[in-house]
This record gives sequence, structure tokens and C-alpha cells, in this order.
Amino acid sequence: MAEQDPKAAETDAGHFITLEGGEGAGKSTLAKALAARLEALGLVVELTREPGGSPKAERIRNALLTGQIKPYGAFAEALMFSAARIDHVDRRIGPALERGAWVICDRFIDSTRVYQGALGEIGAEKLAALETIAIAGLKPELTFILDLAPEIGLARAASRRQPGETVDRFEGETLAFHRQLRQAFLDIAAAEPDRCVVLDAGLTPDQLAEQAWRALASRLPLPQIAPA
Ligand code: TMP
Repeated sequence: MAEQDPKAAETDAGHFITLEGGEGAGKSTLAKALAARLEALGLVVELTREPGGSPKAERIRNALLTGQIKPYGAFAEALMFSAARIDHVDRRIGPALERGAWVICDRFIDSTRVYQGALGEIGAEKLAALETIAIAGLKPELTFILDLAPEIGLARAASRRQPGETVDRFEGETLAFHRQLRQAFLDIAAAEPDRCVVLDAGLTPDQLAEQAWRALASRLPLPQIAPA
């Protein structure tokens, strides 16, 4: 029997990539661009987002982003983000990775650490305990942190709002809050350089996709394409 190429076996395993950053940083556009490049290599991609990504978690998303949970306080919101994450991990991310898919998730644990942490009512220890329960050991292999001045990101987010659409729960926070988020994401990247890559979200979408792709290709095992 022919021996299996260990690199090929590695390539067959699922991979988990997350995208993080403040409002209007271009995560969704980048997620789609990376998914298209992976699919062009013949890989199976599962593109998803948080909060949401599974039917039950999408319902929780709606309650969170319309501000229905806000009156209960930051800890209740953190619990709801975690409840949504548990369902998403159990029903979608976990099974997709088991099938060998490349999962790209628009926001994940770092958003809880940063947003719920920045609301100031929950200590890092409590947030870490919630995270441990919610993800049950499932950590992203690679996280892109899209870094952008919040003034620019919030203006972008406002410009893509439909007429009559109201500002969502977190976009409506103060500029000081959004500045705090930016720094908190950079702090995570500095603390976990093996997992996190910071990208300049002020670049054009094509430039951003190119930079992200280079980082992805240098860190994760992509299949080799045979020359035509
Ligand atoms: P978005 O998908 O349009 O970025 O909206 C999601 C919003 O929810 C965004 O303001 C960040 C916030 N959020 C948290 O506060 N905590 C979390 O754990 C997640 C996943 C998102």
C-alpha cells in the first residue's frame, strides 16, 4: 500500500479561521474573498458569522442587536452571546470541521472579550470562564484582526445602512467605547501572535484580501495546484 503523504493528510483536516475588528472594518467582504480563493483551490468552505450562524443563534442575534437584552446588563448580554455560540459551535462549526471544511467565521471569541469587556461590568476572569464553557476547547487556528480608526469604520457602517434602518446596539455606543475596542483587539493580537494577524483595514478590499491571503498561505496548509 502506498504511504500517505503527511502533508496531504494535514490538508484534509478542517481549519478554523476567524475575522475580528470594529464596526465597518470590512470583515464580511474579506470573508467572502477568502472563501472564494479557498473554493478556487477545490476546498470546501463554510462561511458563517457570530452572533448567529445557526437558526437558534440567529434568533439570539436579533434580540442582542436590536438592544432587547441591553436593559438586563452587560453580563446578561455576554451570557446570550455565549448561548448563541454554544449552538453555533455544536450545530455548525464543529460538524463542518469534522467534515474537513475550512470554516471562516465573521467574529468569534475575541468580540466577546473585547465588546463585553469594554462595557466595563464584567471582569476578565468571568469572561474567560464563559469562553471556556462556550467553545469547549475549539479555538481558531488563525484570526485576522482588521484594524481601522473607529471614525472611519463608523462612517462606513452608517453609509451602508438602508433608509429607515436604525443604528444597532453596539454601533450606537460612544466614540470612546469604539476607541477602546480598537486597542483591546490590538492587545489580543500582541498577546497571541501565533494565532492573530493584524491587517490594515484602510486598504482597498482587493489589497486587504491579498494581504490576508498571503498570511493564510504562510500559516495554514493549502493544497498545491498542479500546473496546467
Ligand atoms: P456585525 O456582525 O454586523 O459585526 O454585528 C455584530 C455586533 O455584535 C457587533 O457590534 C459586535 C457585537 N458582538 C459582541 O458584542 N460580542 C460578541 O461576542 C459578538 C460575536 C459580536
